[in-house]
Amino acid sequence: MKVTLIAGSNRTNASSTNLLRYVGYLLEAEDISVHFIDLSKIQLPLFSPDNWDFHSDAKRVLNAIEEGDGLIIATPEYHGSVSGALKNALDYITASQVAGKAVLSVSSAGGPLGVSSLSHLQAIIRNLHGINCSEWISIGYGQNTFDSDGAPLDEGMKERVQKAVNHFVDLTQKLRAAARAEH
Ligand SMILES: Cc1cc2nc3c(=O)[nH]c(=O)nc-3n(C[C@H](O)[C@H](O)[C@H](O)COP(=O)(O)O)c2cc1C
Repeated sequence: MKVTLIAGSNRTNASSTNLLRYVGYLLEAEDISVHFIDLSKIQLPLFSPDNWDFHSDAKRVLNAIEEGDGLIIATPEYHGSVSGALKNALDYITASQVAGKAVLSVSSAGGPLGVSSLSHLQAIIRNLHGINCSEWISIGYGQNTFDSDGAPLDEGMKERVQKAVNHFVDLTQKLRAAARAEH
């Protein structure tokens, strides 16, 4: 199984990116192949519907999503929504890359929870015909510190992340098996 991870913060040492790296570590521990895309490192040009001959970085991101069996997206909570950097990247995507695949949403907020950005992210995924996991992960104030191995220091958060990842892997496997049985 291959999973594409997209870190949507445009900030160095971002907590949502750190959390996503931990998610990647949990997947790799189960021998799942991970393709990690950090949007703070790949600065995509502003999407324009006038130009469908995309920059090579945008093509690289789209290929990674297309090749993945599932997708995990992390965003900071910005004014009750997703980051501009992430929304710009998502505007490049079409349903052909996401339809029928499991998608897990992850957020980091300055307050206790980033539910608003998670809801917006799930609405975007729904419009791309992706299958939203019934679990999601939100890291908030007081929970966004990590140990030297990259694991959340908050034990409750660690358990919630593992539970959400297990659910995502299970859903991805089921959807992949169903898609194979159809062909
Ligand atoms: C432009 C901007 C808008 C923000 N809006 C919110 C918000 O609406 N709600 C909130 O809880 N935190 C808000 N924050 C705080 C961030 O969500 C918080 O710092 C988060 O941990 C950043 O994630 P990151 O570390 O992955 O970049 C905002 C921060 C910025 C820079």
